[in-house]
Amino acid sequence: MQLTSEIQVQDGAQNRPPIDVIIMAAGKGTRMKSRRPKVLHPLAGRPLLWHVLDTAQALLARQAVVITGHGAIEVEAACAVDSGATSQLVISFVRQEPQLGTGHAVQQAVPVLADDGVVVVLSGDVPLTQPATLFHLISACAEERLALLTLEMPEPAGYGRIVRAGGAADGAVRAIVEHKDASPQQQAITEIYSGIMAVPAAPLKRWLAKLDNQNAQGEYYLTDIVKFAVADGVPVVAHKITDAVQVTGVNSPAQLAELERAYQLQQAHRLMEEGVRLADPARLDVRGDLLCAHDVSIDVNCIFEGQVNLGEGVTIGANCIIANAVIEAGATIHAFTHIDGENLGVTVGTGALIGPFARLRPGARLGAEVHIGNFVEVKNSTLAKGAKANHLAYLGDAHVGERVNFGAGSITANYDGANKHRTDIEADVHVGSNCVLVAPVTLGAGGTVGGGSTITKSTPPGALTVARGKQTSIANWNRPKKEKKT
Ligand code: UD1
Ligand code: CA
Repeated sequence: MQLTSEIQVQDGAQNRPPIDVIIMAAGKGTRMKSRRPKVLHPLAGRPLLWHVLDTAQALLARQAVVITGHGAIEVEAACAVDSGATSQLVISFVRQEPQLGTGHAVQQAVPVLADDGVVVVLSGDVPLTQPATLFHLISACAEERLALLTLEMPEPAGYGRIVRAGGAADGAVRAIVEHKDASPQQQAITEIYSGIMAVPAAPLKRWLAKLDNQNAQGEYYLTDIVKFAVADGVPVVAHKITDAVQVTGVNSPAQLAELERAYQLQQAHRLMEEGVRLADPARLDVRGDLLCAHDVSIDVNCIFEGQVNLGEGVTIGANCIIANAVIEAGATIHAFTHIDGENLGVTVGTGALIGPFARLRPGARLGAEVHIGNFVEVKNSTLAKGAKANHLAYLGDAHVGERVNFGAGSITANYDGANKHRTDIEADVHVGSNCVLVAPVTLGAGGTVGGGSTITKSTPPGALTVARGKQTSIANWNRPKKEKKT
């Protein structure tokens, strides 16, 4: 049966056997030259392993068994953190110490594998396998066959080769021969084993028990089960794909960067298919979930992190970083703006104008048509409709009423060295330039604060309040002159 869509696959879920995913993640990752375990290096802002756990979740796996070894404690701890999509997945861990090969790795999982399932073997360092590909592989396995995911590689050096009967491209699969064990004729084979298979648990256990390490590398090869299957008369089928990115593993920083670009390009194309206009799909990074309504346009070099929602007609200028924020319809974020809602989020109201060079921090709640200009920082503050802070200002722990104008260089002094205090600026207040509002303080509605004021007491509504040294002039003032040295 050919499964053509995710929906059909989901519908078919109840007819399928339980799926147990094994994720091999015990290897050292020497070529990363890093203290961090390889599978915890981030791709699109999340550990490689989390992407593989997402895949297991997409397969509706009964459980994911993660095989750990190098950096086991760190790897296991990283899986305990809520990784988002995988929160419903049952994850168990088995340790492999020492690491004696992929067959030895899977042997460690035997005690936690029930006999009634189909086992899908994945690697923690291969992050971009599509669930649809694995559903095909599981269908090919059909609860009774050994199904291998394979690929044609013009330069197959290093990979296990698919040996077929009579050497014919459509001959039955007889074995996988590892590169180092392959004869010159076998090394010429360009069909390789991807490292991913689907196999019924019961025969898998039988075959694992028979593995030995009599080979060029002195390792227990998982790939040796193919010849045991053939000997038992169990059909071995290859599901061949053409998209190498799906089975590419990360062994070095260069490969990690390559996969990052491949993943980002996929995101960019998905967004463009949804109608988002990207100035350049090669210059976009989405490290999380970016949800866009119609007619969103995004200029070059923008980074989106966590959960970001962009409303209809939102425009994002070049070089913006936007994390954990909701930008409502018609808002414009000008170039070089940095928005990070972290755990509290940021909201930008309809038709608001932000930046260039603005900074919105956690808890910034901006109403409709708010203007935040260059070098203005807003943290944990609510700005009502039409409020403006256009230049060089700081608003922290403040409530700013409708149509307030907050002058250039003015700030809320919200921190007394020990505690944070709130500033309440009521509707229609005008705060002049270079004012310091020492919190806690309330500026009454419609009032005006003269430029350069340091406000330490609340101000009455409608009044002009000035709190600065009075201006005096001394006529005909002679500046001191330099004394002549004699
Ligand atoms: C393996 C396959 C090879 C295939 C290739 C695809 C075997 C014997 N060979 O090669 O046919 O073409 O993958 O990339 O299976 N790991 C452990 N414990 C171990 C050894 C490995 O957990 O003792 C993990 C690694 O961390 C890695 C994965 O298993 O995530 C694959 O190991 P790797 O050494 O890359 O596989 P190869 O033997 O090179
Ligand atoms: Ca490898």
